[in-house]
Amino acid sequence: MEFSIISAINPKQPILIVPLFKDVAFTKTSPKILETFLKNRQEQQDFLAQEGDVLLTMPDDKNIPSKAILWGLGEKKKLTSQKLRGLAAQLLKSVKALKKGEATIWLLDEMIPYAQAIGEGLTFGNYSLAKFKTGKEKEQQDLQTIKKISFIITKKSPKFQSEVTKGSMIAEAVGEVRDLVNAGPTLKNVDYLAQKAQEIAKQNGYKITVLNKSELQKMGMGGILGVNRGSEFGAKMVMMEYAPKALSKKPPVVIIGKGIIFDSGGYNLKPSHSLFEMQLDMAGAGAVMGLFMLLKKLNIQQHVVGIFPLTDNLVSATSQKPSDVVTTYSGKTVEIINTDAEGRMVLCDAITYALKNFEPRYLIDVATLTGACMVALGDRYAGLFGNDPTLIEKLRKAGEETDEQSWPMPIHPDHGARMKSKIADLRNWDEVPHAGASKGAAFLQEFVEDAKWAHLDIAGPAFVKDPKKYESTMGTGFGVRLFVEFLENLK
Ligand code: BES
Ligand code: ZN
Ligand code: ZN
Repeated sequence: MEFSIISAINPKQPILIVPLFKDVAFTKTSPKILETFLKNRQEQQDFLAQEGDVLLTMPDDKNIPSKAILWGLGEKKKLTSQKLRGLAAQLLKSVKALKKGEATIWLLDEMIPYAQAIGEGLTFGNYSLAKFKTGKEKEQQDLQTIKKISFIITKKSPKFQSEVTKGSMIAEAVGEVRDLVNAGPTLKNVDYLAQKAQEIAKQNGYKITVLNKSELQKMGMGGILGVNRGSEFGAKMVMMEYAPKALSKKPPVVIIGKGIIFDSGGYNLKPSHSLFEMQLDMAGAGAVMGLFMLLKKLNIQQHVVGIFPLTDNLVSATSQKPSDVVTTYSGKTVEIINTDAEGRMVLCDAITYALKNFEPRYLIDVATLTGACMVALGDRYAGLFGNDPTLIEKLRKAGEETDEQSWPMPIHPDHGARMKSKIADLRNWDEVPHAGASKGAAFLQEFVEDAKWAHLDIAGPAFVKDPKKYESTMGTGFGVRLFVEFLENLK
């Protein structure tokens, strides 16, 4: 989507959007040229400018575009960036239905501080789930895409255009992540995602290492290799590094994303009602990829390393079985009690890989790790675990700012104790069916040594049935916006 700033209403523009507050006289916030038209509308009291109200009108006036959309923002003092992101996305969907491909928005001074959220919302409004439609539906969709938005601004605001564009770039990356998360496992196989990572690295000049199965074997990454035993594609471990010149010597923030292409559960096969969505299980890796699409473009001043272990978790004659014992990259042995607790088995090797190669300033992992976390928190909050209160608070706050919220969750020493095995160092599952999210986190903690570490369990918010206004059902791209905010705020 392209944005431009113009200085006045031009009646030749196809659609004019007029934002209005519920509690301010319509004529007070709008240009003189709309005075008579808006006065009439207000007197008729058929548009109350409640939050999210959208009314298409056809002003019979030579000086005004032939279509004007009245856009309700609700109460003036209750306007927030979160609200505008959602309202902008909703608005754009109404504009799309008119199939003009472009629109002009009259901008209120009160909206200017929220430029980034507006850019995000408008671009999210353009997002379409229907990637595989054909024929008429596909044609309609292409016709409806909005390519250009012009803003009419009267107050001097030099940063508006760059901020709105920044918001749009972020939402584009999030959209790409949603597409990856929604895609079926055949399309986004291990090789495809590794190739995608190569492209991101090439476009942005990042250093990238892709370890293939035989390299993982030589290195002794028994955790990920065990999970990979049922798959026709060899596992891969991808590592990308963004190091702005002055910062390359500083300890990096390392972010690890769970990249299970499809989680069947393995021999602990999932039931049908949860099996059919398990392409979502690379959403953590997706969030890391989305972040790397943006780091360079947004000129983020942090040294960042992204790592994602990639494999399927499938059933075959060669798959690992409950009671197998594997030796992880750390040297610790793990008794596989439940093949469906595979996320922790790929993440533990990635954590060790991070610690062997870097001294992370912060070590963060992001993973659709447990259904238990979804049971506890639903789809609006990620579970937030870790061993460093400062890091936890920074992540929580970045989530608050971006509406990608997380909720601090505990790890009790006894949760760790439940993950000890009789025959090996650890076991990957506890038959006591409580505190599953905390026990998953406690397992990971066994591998983080003395790093400052946080774990985001995004099983709930990464893939939703009840989307927010600026989301669609299925993949949300959760994490990308949170990490951008977190890194931008890091001193
Ligand atoms: N990928 C799942 C977790 C998940 C479930 C994500 C639902 C999104 C929606 C994970 O690998 C898994 O299977 N976890 C098990 C853990 C258990 C075996 C300890 C679970 O949630 O049941
Ligand atoms: Zn699983
Ligand atoms: Zn999984």
